[in-house]
Amino acid sequence: MAEIAARRWIVRAAIAVGVAAAGYFAVTEGYDYFIARDLLMANPDSIPSDPRLFQYANALGKSAYMAHCASCHGADLKGRPGIPNLADADWLYDYGRISDIERTILYGIRSGMGKAHNVTDMPAIGRQKTLNATEITDVIDYVLSLSGHKVDLASAQRGSRIFQDKGNCYDCHGRDAEGVADYGAPNLSDNIWLYGGDFKDIYRSVYDGRHGLCPGWMGKLSFATIRAIAVYVHTHSQESPQSPFKQEAKAEQGARG
Ligand code: HEC
Ligand code: HEC
Repeated sequence: MAEIAARRWIVRAAIAVGVAAAGYFAVTEGYDYFIARDLLMANPDSIPSDPRLFQYANALGKSAYMAHCASCHGADLKGRPGIPNLADADWLYDYGRISDIERTILYGIRSGMGKAHNVTDMPAIGRQKTLNATEITDVIDYVLSLSGHKVDLASAQRGSRIFQDKGNCYDCHGRDAEGVADYGAPNLSDNIWLYGGDFKDIYRSVYDGRHGLCPGWMGKLSFATIRAIAVYVHTHSQESPQSPFKQEAKAEQGARG
């Protein structure tokens, strides 16, 4: 008799443990489900003002960033030659808002996905013989002069005309050489270089062209994970001072007090 009673107790205890574990699992998984859903329903750019979503996204975003992005962009987000720094206010594409970063992560850059950023490439201006060797030297001297480097003045002046005319550089980098965020054409006047700012680095950019590629992650990571990574990257960077949305954000903050 005593043996049967003891066995019953063991069975009951086992059931109780099972129910508790299932309950715990349901609560934590359920929590993940609901908060991931809220994350996706939120306006991405206002997530930082919701502490619950912000904390969740940053934690999830950090582990996913380390697993999928750090190999290229670095654990400190600072990139390396050919791979942009994500921890500053300098953006090739758009303005560094969470929604901008999320779009880049979803589809990538020249990734082959339909909605990838892929308007232009840096053309191989030397190899295609658009400009001859002297013209290339002149235009590089002009580019270097924009960030205060000491160059041959006459050469830079000739280069300036080439930039605005025969070289067609203005078409993508802008008349002021400050870059065009819709094309991913970098600012050439701020002394921040994706591929390096020595004469020989710039020579390689202009002579051979460039074809930077960032993979797209749609279908490989969940939408919630992608948004979380965008929040994490945004937390460690600044929006572009050129952003037309910055003013709005400031005005909103002002209104909120
Ligand atoms: C058709 C558009 C286009 C034209 C024309 C063009 N560029 Fe570019 N340029 C780009 C793009 C896009 C990039 C970024 C390439 C990448 O990351 O793959 C770039 C990158 C560069 C870079 C590298 C910048 C860095 O931060 O390392 C230099 C230098 C440069 N261009 C100079 C020039 C000069 C000088 C001319 C004219 C002789 C010129 N470009 C013409 C689109 C263009
Ligand atoms: C295989 C290397 C590689 C991996 C992995 C990678 N990237 Fe990139 N990423 C690049 C390169 C190269 C560029 C620059 C493309 C160009 O030249 O236009 C870039 C550009 C970007 C940009 C645009 C930056 C700007 O200034 O506008 C963002 C944002 C970005 N990556 C985020 C990510 C995130 C987040 C991940 C992980 C989910 C990731 N990347 C994974 C190589 C990579």
